[in-house]
Amino acid sequence: MGSGRGSNARSIHSHLQSVQADLQISIVISNRPDAGILDFAASQGIPTSVYQPNSDPDGDDLIAMVRNSGADWIVLAGYLKAIPVPVIDTFKHRILNIHPALLPSFGGQGMYGMNVHEAVYAAGVKVTGATVHLVTKDYDAGPIIAQRAVHLTGDESPKEIADAVLKIEHQLYPEVLLTICNHGLRLDGNRVWLEKEMVNETARSH
Ligand code: GRF
Repeated sequence: MGSGRGSNARSIHSHLQSVQADLQISIVISNRPDAGILDFAASQGIPTSVYQPNSDPDGDDLIAMVRNSGADWIVLAGYLKAIPVPVIDTFKHRILNIHPALLPSFGGQGMYGMNVHEAVYAAGVKVTGATVHLVTKDYDAGPIIAQRAVHLTGDESPKEIADAVLKIEHQLYPEVLLTICNHGLRLDGNRVWLEKEMVNETARSH
């Protein structure tokens, strides 16, 4: 699911084409009929659907769309609306999101797109990065699956920070999806481990 240009969807799709995996994109869903992610999906012959969150407070339409597509997991890639709680309950621990910073810093309401990178720039932090996490009712606060860092010198503009983080996202998200598909996740409360040693410093330290 996405609301924007769909560069993560492109990256996931192209990684899936280059490996043998029991993983495919069943459908691409957007709340914006003009989103680039839908154009991309259509160009690849992937089914698409426009979702109207305002007329679906209980999530029934979304649950039906996902189920009818045959998908087991929901992968958010730049989806800017809240997921209805019944959907989160129905697909418990099977909804992923990627956030363009190292959560729990620079997350929460209003922290999306360039807002994130401008806040990172303003704070003068020397490390940012990307976080893949499970989606829960608490915005940007679900269990963290994987993170990858981008080191900053302090001379980068917000736009340069955004570009560097996006590049990392394009590697990290497909790797996480493939690892979950091949090896699964282990959950213990708010802590999650990928079962295969890979991806990031966090996973390696366990
Ligand atoms: C990415 O930066 C992602 O971290 C955030 O939204 C952006 C989506 O970009 N959640 P794209 O549509 O995948 O290009």
